[in-house]
Amino acid sequence: MPLHERIAPERVDERLALRPEYAVDAALTDVPRFHLAPDSLPPNVAYQLIHDELMLDGNARLNLATFVTTWMEPEAARLLAECSDKNMIDKDEYPVTAELESRCVNMLADVWRAPEGAHPQGCSTLGSSEACMLGGLALKFRWRNRGAAPDARPNLVMGANVQVVWEKFCRYWEVEPRMAKLGPDRTHLTAEAAAELCDENTIGVVAILGSTFDGAYEPVAEIAGALDRLQSERGIDVPIHVDAASGGFVAPFLDPDL
Ligand SMILES: Cc1ncc(COP(=O)(O)O)c(C=O)c1O
Repeated sequence: MPLHERIAPERVDERLALRPEYAVDAALTDVPRFHLAPDSLPPNVAYQLIHDELMLDGNARLNLATFVTTWMEPEAARLLAECSDKNMIDKDEYPVTAELESRCVNMLADVWRAPEGAHPQGCSTLGSSEACMLGGLALKFRWRNRGAAPDARPNLVMGANVQVVWEKFCRYWEVEPRMAKLGPDRTHLTAEAAAELCDENTIGVVAILGSTFDGAYEPVAEIAGALDRLQSERGIDVPIHVDAASGGFVAPFLDPDL
């Protein structure tokens, strides 16, 4: 996580030029880059200034880094914008949002064919990183509740191809990351590699649907089989977290027999 610090003294007085095309008061030619200006800017000028600077960012439509669809219908973008002023965590103030979330959890349970009698649960998050944090914490709490020794150090098994959020999770919550090595003939986690790295302090195995490197689905069913064998042979019960950040809404439609 890049932390930002106070700007170096030699840059502190830098200014941002206001382009003449913005058609503002001729006397207003620039504003401080690192401080609030003494006077306010007209909103349209402030917008244009930031909008123009953001043109130097990468282009999300051209960013294939994590193989996700970086386009959505304008109506979806509009709904997002319409909710941007809500503090969504406050479910008392925004009960309709809470109701919509509940419907989404039910739809997802159907899409992922939750078995009859199961009790699928879910909640909204700001993005997959928050979802991974919550999923990882649930694994850690489960491990602790299973009666882990107070001084035991938990570990999490995954392929070295995981999205960086899993390294963050391990650092934030003091979990040892155990990464299966990759190579030219192995670009994601395999069942054998996962089982080999597990021990009694493994809080879980992360399997990715839509690997960050190449979009491949990791073999969740095979990993589950290997972990079942581990349990019957060594009595170690290790759960799986499927990180379906990019594949969760793709796999059920394109690969329903997965
Ligand atoms: C597999 C995987 N996990 C987690 C994340 C983190 O998602 P977000 O950027 O929504 O926090 C991503 C993002 O691309 C991802 O591809």
